[in-house]
Amino acid sequence: MTEHITFPGDIRTRLQDPDLFREAALIDGTWVTRADMAVINPATNAPLGHMPDCTADEAQAAITAAAVAMVEWKALTHAQRADILLVWYQLMLDHADDLALILTAEQGKPLAEARGEILYGASFVRWFAEEARRVNGAIIPSPVPGKKIFAMKEPVGVCAIITPWNFPNAMITRKVAPGLAAGCTMVIKPSDFTPYSALALGVLAERAGIPKGVLNILTGRPEKIGSALTSSPVVRKLSFTGSTRVGALLAEQCAPTLKKMSLELGGNAPFIVFDDADLDAAVEGAMASKFRNGGQTCVCANRILVQSGIHDAFVAALADRVNALHVGPGLDPNAAIGPMINAAAIAKITAHVEDALAKGAVRATAPRDLPDGYADPVVLTGATPQMRLASEETFGPVAPIFKFETEAQALSIANGTPFGLAAYFFTTDMARAFRFGEALEVGLVGLNTGAVSHAEAPFGGVKSSGLGREGAQEGIEEYLETKAFHFGGL
Ligand code: SIN
Repeated sequence: MTEHITFPGDIRTRLQDPDLFREAALIDGTWVTRADMAVINPATNAPLGHMPDCTADEAQAAITAAAVAMVEWKALTHAQRADILLVWYQLMLDHADDLALILTAEQGKPLAEARGEILYGASFVRWFAEEARRVNGAIIPSPVPGKKIFAMKEPVGVCAIITPWNFPNAMITRKVAPGLAAGCTMVIKPSDFTPYSALALGVLAERAGIPKGVLNILTGRPEKIGSALTSSPVVRKLSFTGSTRVGALLAEQCAPTLKKMSLELGGNAPFIVFDDADLDAAVEGAMASKFRNGGQTCVCANRILVQSGIHDAFVAALADRVNALHVGPGLDPNAAIGPMINAAAIAKITAHVEDALAKGAVRATAPRDLPDGYADPVVLTGATPQMRLASEETFGPVAPIFKFETEAQALSIANGTPFGLAAYFFTTDMARAFRFGEALEVGLVGLNTGAVSHAEAPFGGVKSSGLGREGAQEGIEEYLETKAFHFGGL
């Protein structure tokens, strides 16, 4: 692979604004620079840079700074906070190319997709800047004379935000923007695989005029920072995106201090194609849902259920599309799928494919020889519930096809999992569209579409996929408490 597409040397030399790349933590307006840990570029497996491994004391300092800063931040009007957020939004657009380059360098996704994530991430800032001005309370009719009751909305307090590596920009803005709009202050712990996108957002936040201490960013290993955040009585809310296992652990750790929690956790999305589906639309939807970010999203189709009448045509068309996908470093303009995040991801993907093949699945795509760090996008037919990929999230570019006969059978397979994040189905029968969509036990339904992520729409799951909703009007409610204010003697 040529140097041009693999980032040797210092990434700063590729940025229009090298100051956006910080190897530091941000605590109370001070950039704390230390090279305790390396961050690896997944396209080269070489260090991209370093970062501090923040201590529990530093986490405590960030919490204290956020508590102090909240006094003034909360006192601003909603319109003032909205104006600052809109400046931050505009800076994200102005620096979209650099932000995308940093994102690709640390996460691996193709540059065009990274740019798409920057715009997606920025859209949450704009949306919640607009929503800030609609944090309305209510006047409640009093049951007794001479009294009025107001329901007032107040910011919940200092928030801890723990974000994943698969969307290093957008998962931060989706949580931080509603929190800031509501009047909360933030301590952010980005994934130790992808800290630089978060830090670049921190630089732009300072430039936008977000005061010191309002937004703090702690880099490093998750355990000690996580436990400082979860055990602190000052932190009143925790929002986490990641695995169900870690989400449950965080909930346990937050229980003694009874924090408000938003948990956006694992999925096992079914993608169902009925005989009456528009074949082209279904294949297009499967490509979008399955192969976005190389299959490393929590809403990715994990199980593709195809009715027997359309099965062979769907498999042939999907396999053609998958065979045509170019796999390569994110800077290669032809790349549709970049490297996976790390060796553990590759090991899980490989284990799922090998297990399925050993249990009778058949490969419908041509195998390819790829360098270390890359996963072969594959369509497998003959998938069954006994295979690991039926019950575990693969988080990679593996499309297992399960054949089914009846709608009832499809529903039972779709709902037969502890998870309930996203589900997709393709049909042209409108009665079935409502009947089936309403029967799915998930938080997000894509009917005749493979895309379910927009700032305007509520995002979140049921069952083991989490608690709460992000985006939409609901997103800001997660950062608000309601105070009932009773006025007597009137
Ligand atoms: C995720 O995978 O955690 C989020 C995906 C999205 O926002 O679409």
